[in-house]
Amino acid sequence: MILEKLDALSSLPMHMPGHKRNAAAFPWLKGLCERDITEIEGFDDLNDPAEDFSAMERAAAELWGAKESVALVGGSTLGVLASVLAVLGDGRELLMCRASHRSVYHAAELTKARTRYLTPPVDPALGIPLSVTPEAVAAALETHPDVGLVCVTSPTYEGVVSDIPAIAEVCHARAVPLLVDEAHGAHLGFGGFPRSAVAAGADLVVQSLHKTLPSLTQTALLHINPGLVDPLRVRRTVGMLQTSSPSYLLSASIEGCVRFMEREGEAAADCWLALLRDFRAGARSLYNIRLYNGGAGVFALDPSKLLLMGEEALAPRLRREHGIEPEYARGPLTLCMTGLGDTKASLDRLLTALLTLDRTARPPQTAPIPAPALPEQVLPLHEAMAAPGRLLPAREALGRVAGEYAWAYPPGVPCLVPGERVDEGVLETLNRAGTLHFTHKHGPESIFCVDLPGKMV
Ligand SMILES: Cc1ncc(COP(=O)(O)O)c(C=O)c1O
Repeated sequence: MILEKLDALSSLPMHMPGHKRNAAAFPWLKGLCERDITEIEGFDDLNDPAEDFSAMERAAAELWGAKESVALVGGSTLGVLASVLAVLGDGRELLMCRASHRSVYHAAELTKARTRYLTPPVDPALGIPLSVTPEAVAAALETHPDVGLVCVTSPTYEGVVSDIPAIAEVCHARAVPLLVDEAHGAHLGFGGFPRSAVAAGADLVVQSLHKTLPSLTQTALLHINPGLVDPLRVRRTVGMLQTSSPSYLLSASIEGCVRFMEREGEAAADCWLALLRDFRAGARSLYNIRLYNGGAGVFALDPSKLLLMGEEALAPRLRREHGIEPEYARGPLTLCMTGLGDTKASLDRLLTALLTLDRTARPPQTAPIPAPALPEQVLPLHEAMAAPGRLLPAREALGRVAGEYAWAYPPGVPCLVPGERVDEGVLETLNRAGTLHFTHKHGPESIFCVDLPGKMV
């Protein structure tokens, strides 16, 4: 184990990093720098794994059911970028969910791939995207024969799972590889949780270990099932994008997590699931707050995401009156994410808080932000990003083409994508979306629009 080797280190470090494991001199590094080294004799290199890291990756592949797995210290973001870059780049298009994480858009931008969108139905009461259907993927592939990669987010941020086995079949019938952004589903396939995309036939699956499993932030896995994708090319792309000095703290965290899941993953997942069942049973007594349980248009729901519909004050009250910090809150929706580290005590505390708040809570006063109709895609996003432009007051942007992204974080799904025409629906979404991040770092009163002389954009 890497961790044991790190703890046994006694040599004088005449190598990087510059803190020299000297916690006494740099107290802010206490508990951190002691295990922080560079690639030295006896320690494997994550970018060229041959010993411990190679064994860890083989163990991960076996555990999740992939042919090959790659450990990442740059999050699922790195996995998405590397996957898309490794597969596309020959002028073929990317078929992706419009509600994809911005890393998928950035990947499209880097490869200069034209994006085509899957727009799954939206839950009318909650405004969240539901499952992508195999029929929708088949229809999109029929309409867009130049698609060279399909990317589906499953589970979504809110826990909605799509029928990956059927979607994989549709893609493979056309020899198009399927990338599943399973960033929020590293726990899928363990115990009674829904099946993971890795075992369901996807060619590339990206999972953030840190989102639901016991591992440090930034740690992730990229699973590869070769056939339509070349694992060597994928690894080479990871090597290009990942730092040449991968943190041993993070790498040791991945190894610890993989080994833990190997030993106890099934039992731990079932234990977590039993706690979630109890929570959901207790939540049936809620009257003014509603806990989402899936429904029509949902292939499967990851029960670990506790999506609550209630009054706007729910999240601030959870925070202020009960010391509970939700993952996300917008309008009537509050999302509490659970993880393998949750306990009976933590879930009981959340349930008690909700039951208490429910007594004085008002029913939801506001409607969720409606999903806008897909704006017209005027320019490929890489072209729009490269085009000259200027910042305009939002109202003056109406009818023009955006030259930047706008997204709220979380969940990091762009409300506006470069190359899209700013229409009334876009302005309405931006108005209601809360705190937004714009590429050009300005406030919500303006939008950067492309300015192509002589072209009616
Ligand atoms: C759906 C989805 N995909 C990918 C990512 C990127 O994951 P990471 O933070 O591990 O880079 C996120 C992050 O929030 C996400 O929500």
